[in-house]
Amino acid sequence: LITDPACHHQHIVMDAVHLQQITCVTLYLLFLVMMQPSLIFVMLLATLLTEGLAGTATTTITPKGPSKEESKKSAKLPPCAACRMLTDTFKKGLERTSRSKFEGGDAAWEEKKMGSYKTSEVRLVEIQENLCSEVDRAQKQCQGLAEDHERLLEEWWHEGQAESLHDWLCIGKLAVCCQAHYYGPDCVPCTGGAEKPCAGHGKCKGDGTRKGNGECQCDDGYNSTLCDSCATGYYESYRDATKLLCSKCYRACNGPCSGAGPKTCAACKDGWRMDTEFGCVDVDECHAMADACTGNQFCINSDGSFSCLRCDKSCDGCDGDGPDMCDNCANSFTYDQDKGMCID
Ligand SMILES: *[C@@H]1O[C@H](CO)[C@@H](O)[C@H](O)[C@H]1NC(C)=O
Repeated sequence: LITDPACHHQHIVMDAVHLQQITCVTLYLLFLVMMQPSLIFVMLLATLLTEGLAGTATTTITPKGPSKEESKKSAKLPPCAACRMLTDTFKKGLERTSRSKFEGGDAAWEEKKMGSYKTSEVRLVEIQENLCSEVDRAQKQCQGLAEDHERLLEEWWHEGQAESLHDWLCIGKLAVCCQAHYYGPDCVPCTGGAEKPCAGHGKCKGDGTRKGNGECQCDDGYNSTLCDSCATGYYESYRDATKLLCSKCYRACNGPCSGAGPKTCAACKDGWRMDTEFGCVDVDECHAMADACTGNQFCINSDGSFSCLRCDKSCDGCDGDGPDMCDNCANSFTYDQDKGMCID
């Protein structure tokens, strides 16, 4: 308007435009103010209606919130795992479509037909149509990713598929994963080196992803930053320049030990005592403690412990199980000399 050659006086035109704008805004505001009560009413009604409907829907179909199946499908995986899920389902698609559809024809024709099908648009479409169909957990996320990265999947398909899809997409294009035994934003080697992280006895936090700190979470029995020493309660049963094997101390050991067997314990657990000749040996509580069991019970010793069991119902106190082990007979029972037990 301003540059319209028909306009001689720019400022007049400006004023006209201004005026027009002001009028328009005023009218719009006026419209809004007038419409507001009914607008609010309509919106309120709509909200109530949808909420009411949603409410009845959820109460009638799923009374206890989303079903297990549903929450499984809506689960969310971290970025690298999600990308792997996508490339895995794509791989499944490749497998699904790898068998010849032209079986039964003559070999040469089939070969030719299959050869062109292998890298064809038709096959890609078939794969893409069924992406995520077999995915159980986080299926919704899978479908979202498939949609978001449709272009990239096509690009990989048409660019000759030289690299594995996972490496190309998840490590390269999307940069959410790293090669195995590398971690973090810059994909640096895990603690202990990418060759054998955590000395082969632990998991590197963030292994294969752009996350984590690369620290080792040692397997049971291993300890230290590198998992290259034995944890308390374990001893080195084998060690050479490259290999370490830690084994559990004897079950009666309390804390560390210097090797296998009861004699190597630094200390014994409760219920065991240190014997100068045999190391940790069981304490027979039933004999060591006169009142190990009280009342109508008898004592059974076990390794490192003991238990109290109920006497026979004919007994009032006993030394073992059965009516022939009574100390005294219970009320309404009398001792039978011949049988050697309490009888009714
Ligand atoms: C591992 O080593 C640390 C430091 O030496 C120690 O505090 C911790 O108790 C050890 N853990 C086990 C299970 O041996």
